[in-house]
Amino acid sequence: MTKEKALALLDEAYEKNPGLWKEHSITAGNIAYTIASHIKGVDAEKCEMYALLHDIGRIRGKHKIRHTLDGYRYLCELSEEECARYCITHVFPGNRIIEHTSFDITSADLDFLQSFVMQHPNTIEDKIVQLSDVMASPYGPMVVEVRLIESGIRNESNIHVFESWQEYLKVKDEINRILGKSVYKLFKNIVCEWTR
Ligand SMILES: [Fe+2]
Repeated sequence: MTKEKALALLDEAYEKNPGLWKEHSITAGNIAYTIASHIKGVDAEKCEMYALLHDIGRIRGKHKIRHTLDGYRYLCELSEEECARYCITHVFPGNRIIEHTSFDITSADLDFLQSFVMQHPNTIEDKIVQLSDVMASPYGPMVVEVRLIESGIRNESNIHVFESWQEYLKVKDEINRILGKSVYKLFKNIVCEWTR
């Protein structure tokens, strides 16, 4: 996988399912690159590709949790297993399956997700992609706390969304600790208001 190929896959997917998710993915790629380049031993270019492709499952339509499996399977079909992992792990911070939104998948798929998440303990790269996803508004990097509320409302989340938010905030805290400063300080312009 290269950045150019990842961008071409995004363009192709956008043709099939247009939406703000493409700009969101590009922002996530930029955020992941910036965060990763401040952490020793992490490959920033790879993290950028992982984040660019985390939502590529949108190529198969407008779905909720199903986009994770769609993306994983799509990238595996392209023999891009390394990138495929993040299509699933980006929505399970803390290696927990929290049903905070529509799990529009079969029970066999849920079993698959559960065993996949158990067998893939979160790495620093998973955490960078998770944080990049929840910071990525289509208009640029956004304060996580604002983005979580915005996406919680947009995705018609249920009461379990609070547990999910806690896991994402733990990831942010951990990355802040590793960076030795707030992740927000890495970005010149950060959106802190949800303009509705
Ligand atoms: Fe995303």
